Amino acid sequence: VLKELSKKDLTGKNILITAGPTREAIDPVRFISNNSSGKMGYALAKAAAYRGADVTLISGPTALTPPVGVNYIAVKTAAEMKTEVDNNFSKSDITIMAAAVADYRPLQTNSEKLKKSTGNLKVELTRTTDILAEIAKNKRKDQLVVGFAAESQNLLANAQKKLEEKAADFIIANDISLPDLGFGSNNNKITILTGESKTTLPVQSKEKLAHKIFDYLIDSGRK
Ligand code: CTP
Ligand code: CA
Repeated sequence: VLKELSKKDLTGKNILITAGPTREAIDPVRFISNNSSGKMGYALAKAAAYRGADVTLISGPTALTPPVGVNYIAVKTAAEMKTEVDNNFSKSDITIMAAAVADYRPLQTNSEKLKKSTGNLKVELTRTTDILAEIAKNKRKDQLVVGFAAESQNLLANAQKKLEEKAADFIIANDISLPDLGFGSNNNKITILTGESKTTLPVQSKEKLAHKIFDYLIDSGRK
C-alpha cells in the first residue's frame, strides 16, 4: 500500500462511492436490512482519497468511521441513497456502487410501534429503485460506472447478467458463500468483469483489493 500512497494517480478525479446496507422501516423501531458491513466501500473511499481523488462516500448505517478527507453523506433508506446519488452523479468521473441496497421496502411504514398479537404478522414488501441501473442508463460517455454483484451461487453467470442488464462498465463479482470472505469479513476474493474480460484477484484484504481495483480501472484505459 505504501507504494500507492505516493502515487496520487487519482488527482483531479471526482469519485462517488456507495457503501453499507440500507434500512427500510416497518415502524419506528423495526426495519429490514442486510449483512453488509460497509468495509469494501469504505476501503475504496480511503484508497481513492489517499491517491488524490475528491471522494464522496454515501453510506447506509455501519459501525465504521468515515475515512479522513472524504465528503461523507449518511443515509438510511434506499430512497435516500438514490436522492444523494442523483445529487452527486453528474460531477462524478468514477462511480462505484458497493452498497447492499435493499431490493424491497415495506409498502407501508407504521407511524406507531406495532403491537404484537398471537397470529402471524404479514408485512407486504414493494420494490425499491435499482440505483445502479438508473444511473448507468443515463451516464455520459466520459463517466465510468462500476457495480458489485454479491452472489451465493453461479457467481460468474449471475455477475455477467448484471453487467449486461444494468449496462455497467464493470461488475465486481464476489462469492458470499465462501467461508470468512465477503460480508462482514476483512478479506474478499473478487472477479472483475468487463464486456471483454474476466479477471480474478486472489483472496486479500479489502484495503489491498481497493487499491487493486483502482489500479485495474486506471490500467483499463477507461479512466
Ligand atoms: N444496486 C443498486 N440499487 C438497488 C439494488 C442494487 O444500486 N436497489 C446495486 C448494488 O449497489 C450493486 C449492484 O446493484 O452494485 C448489484 O447488487 P446486487 O444486490 O448484487 O444485485 P441485484 O441487481 O439487486 O440482484 P439480486 O439481489 O437479485 O441478486
Ligand atoms: Ca440486491
